[in-house]
Amino acid sequence: MAQPLLRLDNVSKSFAGTDALSDISLEVEPGQVLCLLGDNGAGKSTLIKVLSGYHKPTSGTMKVDGEEVVFNSPRDASAKGIATVHQYGGTFPLMSVGRSFFVGAEPTKGWGPFKWFDKPKANKIAIRELKALGITRIHDGNRLVGGMSGGERQSLAIARAVYFGARLLILDEPTAALGVKEAAHVLRIIMQARRKGIAVIFVTHNVLHAMTVGDRFAVLIHGRKADDFAKGERTREQITDLMAGGEAMAELEAEIAAYEKEATA
Ligand SMILES: Nc1ncnc2c1ncn2[C@@H]1O[C@H](COP(=O)(O)OP(=O)(O)OP(=O)(O)O)[C@@H](O)[C@H]1O
Ligand SMILES: [Mg+2]
Repeated sequence: MAQPLLRLDNVSKSFAGTDALSDISLEVEPGQVLCLLGDNGAGKSTLIKVLSGYHKPTSGTMKVDGEEVVFNSPRDASAKGIATVHQYGGTFPLMSVGRSFFVGAEPTKGWGPFKWFDKPKANKIAIRELKALGITRIHDGNRLVGGMSGGERQSLAIARAVYFGARLLILDEPTAALGVKEAAHVLRIIMQARRKGIAVIFVTHNVLHAMTVGDRFAVLIHGRKADDFAKGERTREQITDLMAGGEAMAELEAEIAAYEKEATA
């Protein structure tokens, strides 16, 4: 068996009064896509923030390549090759494409105190890397990120993570705000990263998107892992029911049946 790239054992996270995560154990291997499913408030983003060094777990352990790690900041997580594209953002609307590609890692020319940001070079690399991911409508690295479509922005964030050598790419709802074509494009990029041996944690509400690219799946309900399974082990209906909580769906169905009865009476 391959060594898991990342492994969580019994991770919990509480905020004053709320148990956002309880006793989560998970692992992900290189070249594997782990889909994290769950309804609003299930704890998905909180888990992502623990993995990427924004939150410290209240208890439990995390291991990278079999070695225990404690992240005191996002910088510690990125030093281990964990790159996260957070929900609602990750890119900078008022920044140029080239600049945002290199933010925090600017290529400089010159030396000592005379270094300056090499804009043409940054632009060239950013455009080249976007093209490699099939984003062909952006030709000018000086364009502002804010003028790109949602799918192009997600692609930009993924492109820079891959370019800077991410080993684990974490994507929090990357397809949520996208149309069908753009979502398909982002899913294709996820598969491209997977083929390079990158591990991906893909957070989504969309069961179909998850089933298209996922190797393994974990479902969170109220901060707990309710189920954990491999590709092919559950049907789409089973997953949808589980996410909604079987009860909620049964209630809704009963309500609809009652309504229909009333309407035909
Ligand atoms: N910083 C915080 N302080 C207090 N409570 C928080 C904090 N962050 C999250 N929570 C709570 O933890 C729970 C899980 O939230 P989280 O954002 O992880 O859910 P989610 O699964 O990402 O939901 P969504 O699908 O809506 O993005 C919620 O009840 C939320 O209010
Ligand atoms: Mg969230």
